[in-house]
Amino acid sequence: MSRIASSLNVGFVAGVLFVLLVYFLVQQQEAISSLSVATTAAVSQWMTDKQLIKAPGEIQQIKAPGEILVASDVHRIADKQPIQDPDVASDVQPISDKEPIHDSEKGEVVCTTESETLGHSETCEVDGDVRTNGTALSVTLVPASWKERREWMISPYSKAEIIVKNVTVTQLQDRATAPPCTVTHSMPAVLFAIAGHAGNYWHDYTDILVPLFVASRRYRGEVTFLISNIQYRPEWLVKYKTLLWGLSKHAWVDMEGDTEVRCFPHVTVGLRVDKELTIVPEVVPGGPLSMADFTRFLRETYGLPRGAAVSLTREPDKKPRLLLIHRGHYRLFLNEPEIAQAAEAAGFETVMMELRANASEAEQARVVNSFDVLLGMHGAGLTNALHLPPGGVVIQVVPYGNIEVLARAEFSEPVTDMGLKYLDYSVSVEESSLLETLGPEHPAIKDPESIHRSGWTNMFEFYLAKQNVRINTTRFAPTLAQAFDHLRQQ
Ligand SMILES: *[C@@H]1O[C@H](CO)[C@@H](O)[C@H](O)[C@H]1NC(C)=O
Ligand SMILES: *[C@@H]1O[C@H](CO)[C@@H](O)[C@H](O)[C@H]1NC(C)=O
Ligand SMILES: *[C@@H]1O[C@H](CO)[C@@H](O)[C@H](O)[C@H]1NC(C)=O
Ligand SMILES: *[C@@H]1O[C@H](CO)[C@@H](O)[C@H](O)[C@H]1NC(C)=O
Repeated sequence: MSRIASSLNVGFVAGVLFVLLVYFLVQQQEAISSLSVATTAAVSQWMTDKQLIKAPGEIQQIKAPGEILVASDVHRIADKQPIQDPDVASDVQPISDKEPIHDSEKGEVVCTTESETLGHSETCEVDGDVRTNGTALSVTLVPASWKERREWMISPYSKAEIIVKNVTVTQLQDRATAPPCTVTHSMPAVLFAIAGHAGNYWHDYTDILVPLFVASRRYRGEVTFLISNIQYRPEWLVKYKTLLWGLSKHAWVDMEGDTEVRCFPHVTVGLRVDKELTIVPEVVPGGPLSMADFTRFLRETYGLPRGAAVSLTREPDKKPRLLLIHRGHYRLFLNEPEIAQAAEAAGFETVMMELRANASEAEQARVVNSFDVLLGMHGAGLTNALHLPPGGVVIQVVPYGNIEVLARAEFSEPVTDMGLKYLDYSVSVEESSLLETLGPEHPAIKDPESIHRSGWTNMFEFYLAKQNVRINTTRFAPTLAQAFDHLRQQ
């Protein structure tokens, strides 16, 4: 058995935050009848809880010291901005792939909100003679001919409920009051913030990197990134700089530190999440892109050698490689060596490894890319699926407590869209540490639904923070066999 216990330092921050997000998303879908009320309530509950809950060993931070962060009203865009005003609604069109990138003759601001996911996104496409002022965090359209003055307050973070500083987007009436350009760019720009949940591996991709790819890939590197909130998250840019350079060949601008008035032919303000950790090809500006395109981009950017999982039809003697993600703080596997042995018995070369949040993303990506199967407990570590070669398999272990819907919402569709096979394994009560710690008569054991009804905090405490798992390898064997069969069929 070639089990290597390693602690490569990258990429793992557990999933309190993103789990919470999906929890309310799911609840929201179940309460369609009173959607807007439910949304507001859920979001405020969500924000409150997010700030209160901290799991043991949780290193997630929502807010850096000094950073402005507020649980804002979900309806705030309606205050200043006539997006939802029926008179203006005809002006607001969804971004279509036929839309010209630059039409300076006309000059227009098109703002949309996307609320398919919880944590709605606000974005504006500002086209024409566009001027930015970093210190004021403003984007101004100077119209070619007289227009009505309008103003929008836009969140530059894709989950608008979690906000640092708003960007003020203004459509001026005429040129008279326009700030003069001090720097003129011939390329477009995308303005976004590194804020909110940035630092959690799942959120890094879901909230920022995938939406940024969607917003900027069409420019083939000829784009400037205007980044807000850098001062509070400098390490984030260090971690993802290779990826950012893969999307933009030009130096990014630290908005708050920028004293220029920059002129662009087009500025996208804010990032839009259409669906968590995946791409809806039909709505990508400039043409369809898919999650498979995103993972291909990652392989190019990080120079990942494997574009396909092992083919056991072509190489029947080759052992597929399985990575068992070790967790060090909570929601642990209590019998890792046994699980690794079971994986070996199923035909895999098995490596157990801890994936940490603070190491080199490129190094991590290369390590993960050398595997064919990723096996892990529900949590942000499974986001590493992004680096598996297509045709590979992801096995999500779902802790006890009726949390399958939640767990699948996070990973099932994204993983499938990446061109991987998604499998999950639901932990039985006998495999859960809760049976021993709480006893068979506890409601969390006998009636998980009652725990769900009592609210997020309890649900999280019992099933996600306090539960460890001892996998019954006999019961788990068919799942491993299914993963192996999938590789054999390629
Ligand atoms: C940017 O906006 C701020 C605040 O309105 C203003 O004081 C500053 O002069 C502007 N910068 C430039 C270069 O115009
Ligand atoms: C953003 O703008 C809205 C109103 O448009 C306001 O309620 C909210 O407080 C602003 N956020 C910040 C951080 O200033
Ligand atoms: C990453 O974090 C761990 C524990 O928090 C620490 O021991 C390690 O030195 C860090 N590694 C790097 C590369 O910063
Ligand atoms: C493990 O699972 C098998 C198959 O489901 C079952 O027969 C066995 O009793 C389980 N072992 C334990 C210790 O629960």
